[in-house]
Amino acid sequence: MGAALALAERGRGRTAPNPNVGCVIVLEGRVVGRGWTQVGGRPHAEAMTLAEAGAEARGATAYVTLEPCAHQSPRGPACSDLLIEAGVARVVAALEDPDARTAGQGFARLEAAGIAVTRSVRANEARRSMAGFLTRQALGRPHVTLKLATSLDGCIAMADGSSRWITGPQARAHAHLERSRHEAILVGRGTYDADAPRLDVRLPGLEARGPMRVLLSSTAEDLPGWTVIAAPQNVATLPRVDHILVEGGAAVASAFLAADLVDRILLYRAPILIGGGKPALRDIGLTDLAQAHGRWAIVDARQLGMDRLEVYERERNEA
Ligand SMILES: NC(=O)c1ccc[n+]([C@@H]2O[C@H](COP(=O)([O-])OP(=O)(O)OC[C@H]3O[C@@H](n4cnc5c(N)ncnc54)[C@H](OP(=O)(O)O)[C@@H]3O)[C@@H](O)[C@H]2O)c1
Repeated sequence: MGAALALAERGRGRTAPNPNVGCVIVLEGRVVGRGWTQVGGRPHAEAMTLAEAGAEARGATAYVTLEPCAHQSPRGPACSDLLIEAGVARVVAALEDPDARTAGQGFARLEAAGIAVTRSVRANEARRSMAGFLTRQALGRPHVTLKLATSLDGCIAMADGSSRWITGPQARAHAHLERSRHEAILVGRGTYDADAPRLDVRLPGLEARGPMRVLLSSTAEDLPGWTVIAAPQNVATLPRVDHILVEGGAAVASAFLAADLVDRILLYRAPILIGGGKPALRDIGLTDLAQAHGRWAIVDARQLGMDRLEVYERERNEA
């Protein structure tokens, strides 16, 4: 399942509206097929993996990060049917598919055909891996990551607005890798005017992964090469976007937090002090300190050259 989860990452940010699934087929301890959801959502991971495994899928075990689909589509057959036809003996899955067209029916169809099904293997990792699809299914909007690059004293720019560069090359390369995993990147009008950001992916081999560029502004006219939205909630209307990276600045970050639209924070912290600079955030709508607690959990921390990256996820226990 670890290998299937790693393969699933290859599709992240490129498969909407479909989930980025990974799949591995193993026969007698040997990997005979590997696959992941392709750009645009088809072929599905299982179809690609079965094509590679060929006749060796018979009697094998398929590890898949999401329940195989049960629905026929004009774009391809149901993966549960493909697995049955190929004669796999066992399916190990991480998550049940919340899509109403499958939602347990994929597993039921496999079991009815005599295939052993093991559920919920490494489910938390799969949830993180398919956060875009799952957020779209549950909340009807993309998964939102907020990127902040700050000094030790929490500034995102000098008082005059200059912010190039706060972090070093390793942190910036990591931020570019994150861009490649999102269908869209958003900045505010203030950042657009101050930095004229290109928002492309400047990493060797990944240059073609330029995400959609989105500007948050209530006043901007149409800008060539940009999609303009007038409110944070409008991210839900962006076509084929299940992951969006919000890159600032302070007003935009605060607006997304105030609307409780941020699911994940990437905090890149440089070992510098600015003093009297632009704070990372403005008012985010809290009226007492207790409301600030219990919202964010740290899920990763690492050193990137001189800088520190911490990753936080929104705790949504109310569900
Ligand atoms: N270190 C970092 O990570 C980082 C990242 C990005 C930017 N920066 C720095 O941050 C500074 C810019 O930040 P900023 O706070 O001045 O500007 P900003 O957040 O980039 O943009 C502010 C503009 O966004 C629009 N906006 C904000 N909230 C909105 C809402 N709820 N609905 C509709 N539109 C909304 C408004 O545009 P309209 O007035 O057109 O409606 C507003 O004037 C620059 O100095 C930049 O270099 C730092």
